[in-house]
Amino acid sequence: MYEKLGTAAKYIQGIKQTTPTVGIVLGSGLGAFVDQIENTTVIPYSNIPFFRNTTVEGHEGRLILGQVGAVEVAVLQGRLHVYEGLPTEEIVFPVRTLATLGIETLILTNAAGGINFDYTPGDLVLIEDHLNMMGVNPLIGPNLNELGPRFPDMTLTYNPKLRSLMQEVAGKMDFNLKSGIYCALQGPTYETPAEIKMLRTLGADMVGMSTVPEAIAANHLGMKVCGVSCITNMAAGMKNVTLKHEDIKIEARKVMSRFSQLLTDSIKKMENLNE
Ligand code: HPA
Repeated sequence: MYEKLGTAAKYIQGIKQTTPTVGIVLGSGLGAFVDQIENTTVIPYSNIPFFRNTTVEGHEGRLILGQVGAVEVAVLQGRLHVYEGLPTEEIVFPVRTLATLGIETLILTNAAGGINFDYTPGDLVLIEDHLNMMGVNPLIGPNLNELGPRFPDMTLTYNPKLRSLMQEVAGKMDFNLKSGIYCALQGPTYETPAEIKMLRTLGADMVGMSTVPEAIAANHLGMKVCGVSCITNMAAGMKNVTLKHEDIKIEARKVMSRFSQLLTDSIKKMENLNE
């Protein structure tokens, strides 16, 4: 694994000599954020050694290298999911490659269903913590000691400094960035109304099918992680509607300009983020 990561990173460095400091993973329907990046180099996942291509509509499958202001970024436009039938170590391979490139700060984004009654579609919610209800963990198997410890602490998975930085940026933008607990399930089915009631009782504010494997792998690597969910719909049974991937992508696109500004302004402030 360690050698594979080195090979993938070397391939990327061969296309563009770069030392990115911030990594970003874009979720369903949120790929248009890449329009904010300057001096871009685009590398399809299919060209990068050991990267799997995404199979999901709304996930482009490209690594974008470039700049946001003075900050060098590497953006994963499109991610891999457990429901695609992939082993979790393949799902987190791109994030581990970003760490191999030297990235220490990671922003995870996703589309999620709102469970908290205070949310409405179009809300952006800062991930405060997560519930891993996927039944898998990317660190299962022999520990890769070169990457991190056998039993990583998960107390501060979503970095408090990054969270307050994003809250500050949202405040300047004059909108209320809510905060909540993200629950990840395997999918690919959306939840039943009974499952949503259960998740609410268990403390979940929003639900989705991603993010947690990458957050775990990044935390294992010692990266500073933050996450933003875009509430694209109220979760099953909360409104008198059924759920469709198409509608979720449309709703995500509607909040694109606020989402993009939150990310760009935050990234610019991450330049000098010290311990
Ligand atoms: N459930 C699971 N994943 C999702 C949802 C949802 O309601 N909305 C967007 N991703």
